[in-house]
Amino acid sequence: MKLWAGRFSKEADKRTNDFNSSVSTDSRMYIQDIDGSVAHATMLAARGIISAEDGMKIVLGLAQIKKDITDGVLTIDPDAEDIHTFIEQTLTERIGEAGKRLHTGRSRNDQVALDIRLYLRNECDAVLGLLHDLIKSLDAKGDEYPDAIMPGYTHLQRAQPITFKAHLFAYTEMLRRDIGRVEDAKKRMNVSPLGSGALAGTTYPIDRQLTADLLDFDSYSVSTLDGVSDRDFCIELASALSLIMVHLSRLSEEIVLWCSWEFKFIELDDAFSTGSSIMPQKKNPDITELVRGKSGRVFGDLMTLLTVMKGLPLAYNKDMQEDKDAIFDAFDTVKICLTTLVPMIDTMKVLPENMRKAAAGGFINATDCADYLVSKGLAFRDAYKATGEVVALCIKKGETLESLKLEDYKGVCELFDDGVYEAIKLENCVRRRGM
Ligand code: ARG
Repeated sequence: MKLWAGRFSKEADKRTNDFNSSVSTDSRMYIQDIDGSVAHATMLAARGIISAEDGMKIVLGLAQIKKDITDGVLTIDPDAEDIHTFIEQTLTERIGEAGKRLHTGRSRNDQVALDIRLYLRNECDAVLGLLHDLIKSLDAKGDEYPDAIMPGYTHLQRAQPITFKAHLFAYTEMLRRDIGRVEDAKKRMNVSPLGSGALAGTTYPIDRQLTADLLDFDSYSVSTLDGVSDRDFCIELASALSLIMVHLSRLSEEIVLWCSWEFKFIELDDAFSTGSSIMPQKKNPDITELVRGKSGRVFGDLMTLLTVMKGLPLAYNKDMQEDKDAIFDAFDTVKICLTTLVPMIDTMKVLPENMRKAAAGGFINATDCADYLVSKGLAFRDAYKATGEVVALCIKKGETLESLKLEDYKGVCELFDDGVYEAIKLENCVRRRGM
C-alpha cells in the first residue's frame, strides 16, 4: 500500500513502481534513516507533540528494526518505494498506532536530505582515513630509500636530478590538500535539514536545535526551502573526490611507466600484478591502469550531479533522487582505489640502481655545470651557452659530462678546472638543492 493511498483510486502500475523506486540505492542508508527517526521521535516526545509512551515505543521499535536488518533477520523489500517508507511501514506493522505518529511534523524531503548528510559524514571519515594511510605508505617508501637519486622530468624528458623521496613528497602534498578539501566540504555539510518539512517547515512546536544536537550537527538550516533543496555538499564532495582521482591517476600513470622495461625504476609485488592469457612473460600493472580508468567514473558522477541540479526550481524535485547513485558511486570508487593502492605501494620494490643509471645518462646535471661557471664569475646566459656547447661536444664524442676530459672542457671555456667534476656529481646536485 502506498503512503498516499487515500488520494488515489488505483494502485500504481508496476512500471511506475519500478521506475520510481529508489530502495535499491537508498537502502544502504537504513542506519542513518533510523538514527534520524529516533532523534525526531525523541524531540517530538520532549516537546509533548507525541506522548512519552509513544516516543518510547517508536525508539525501541526502531532499534529492533535496525538490529534485525543488520543481523539479516529482516530483509528490505525490493518493491518498497524507498528506505524511508519501508522502515516507517515496518515500524507500524510491528508497534501499531504509535508508528503512525512518527512522521508528525516531518516530510521525506527533509528526511532524505538528513540521511544523505549523515551517511556522507561517515563516508568522508572513511576517505580521510584512507588518504592518511596512503600518505603514510608513500612517506615510508621514500624513507626506505632516502638516497635514491632519479631523473626529474619536464616534458617527460630528463631534466634535473632529484631524490625518489622528493618525487613522492610531491604526491603527499597533493593528498594533504585533498584532505583539507574533504574536511572543508564535510564541515559545510554538517547542517541539519530536519524540521524543514516538505519545504515550508511545520506548524508543530518542534525543536530544531534539539534534533541537530542529538545528531551531532553544528547547526540547522535556517531556510527550510534551502534545507530540502540543497545538494551543494554532494557536488562539493564529488569535486573533491574528482581531484583525489586526478592525483591517484597521475601517480598511477607514473607507476605504469616506472614498472615498464624502458624505465624499470620499480617492481610491483606479484600479489598486486596480473598476467596475460597468451604472453607468458607478461606482468602487468592492472591496478594502476584501473585507477587511471576509474577516474572517469568519478568525473562523470560530478557531471551528473551538476547537470541534475542546474535547472531545478525550488524546492524538492524528484530529479534529486538521482543524487545518491552518483555520489555513492564516487565514494565507492575512491575508497576501492585507495584501499588497493596502499598495499600495492607498501609491497612495491624500488630499484635505485636503475634510477641512478637513468639519472646519469641524460645530462641532467647540465644546469649545475652552468651554475659552476657562474660561481667562477661568468654571467648565467654565457655559462648556459658554454655548457650547451659542452653537451654538444659530449654527444659528438659519445661522452657524458662526468667522462669528458678537462682539456675538452677547457677548449670550450677557460674557466673550467678540476672542480667541475665535484660540482656535477649527482649527489652534490641533489644536496645543494635540498632535495
Ligand atoms: N526517494 C526520494 C529521494 O531519494 C525520497 C524523497 C521523496 N520525496 C518525495 N516528495 N517524493 O529523493
